[in-house]
Amino acid sequence: MRVRSYRPRDAEAVHRICVATGDAGDPASGILRDPHLAAYVFADPYLLLQPEMAFVAERDDGVVLGYVVAALNSPEFYARWQLEWAPRFVASHPASCAADMRDADEQLRTLLHQPRRLLSTDLDTYPSHLHINLLESARRQGAGRLLLETLFGELARAGSPGVQLGVRASNTGAQAFYRAIGMDRLASRGGLAVRFGQPLHGVSRPLRENEQPVHNGLG
Ligand SMILES: CC(C)(COP(=O)(O)OP(=O)(O)OC[C@H]1O[C@@H](n2cnc3c(N)ncnc32)[C@H](O)[C@@H]1OP(=O)(O)O)[C@@H](O)C(=O)NCCC(=O)NCCS
Repeated sequence: MRVRSYRPRDAEAVHRICVATGDAGDPASGILRDPHLAAYVFADPYLLLQPEMAFVAERDDGVVLGYVVAALNSPEFYARWQLEWAPRFVASHPASCAADMRDADEQLRTLLHQPRRLLSTDLDTYPSHLHINLLESARRQGAGRLLLETLFGELARAGSPGVQLGVRASNTGAQAFYRAIGMDRLASRGGLAVRFGQPLHGVSRPLRENEQPVHNGLG
């Protein structure tokens, strides 16, 4: 496997991987009546609004098995989402006025239209955020670490002082991964998510699109 910058033709694979892994690594269909909602909220808008901060892990034959997507500046990103992404779903996935936030589909439909609800704290220190997902067959081969190292370099080059993420408290495998790569556990905002942060001062410059692949010796 190797890690490279996202290209528009990867969009379908990224969407499919998000749907296949959207329940803490298991298929989103286990918790959502419309599993595509997972990708509408946690993957697709990043590809449209911030494609330069998306990277994929691909097999030697070019099949994409995982990705990381990110927003450089979370408040600005959600403001653009509101204007450029949410309107696409007014007819197909309208926000319900009295959404039952215990219902996962309604929760994601609400977030689709009100993305600022996703805004976290500590934005001065960690203004960027990310989502990472690999298909099961691609895990534990170093691709996750390489995806994040690549992203951290690109975020640092773009001037971000830090990146954060939220992970479900029950997703202990992902938490072990974030600890293993050296991310800091942040104070919880309450709710079901555990937060991790990565300061980006001193992170080295990443490779650009026209440079050699970051790595091709995995797996
Ligand atoms: C979490 C995830 C991104 C990690 O990526 P990965 O490629 O499997 O991780 P790596 O191979 O780079 O692991 C690096 C180190 O992290 C630790 N680690 C990774 N996954 C782990 C797990 N499930 N349990 C314990 N430690 C783990 C290990 O120390 C590992 O090093 P080792 O394999 O040499 O022991 C990936 O497993 C995944 O996509 N999971 C499903 C979706 C998900 O949960 N996404 C995150 C939502 S917040």
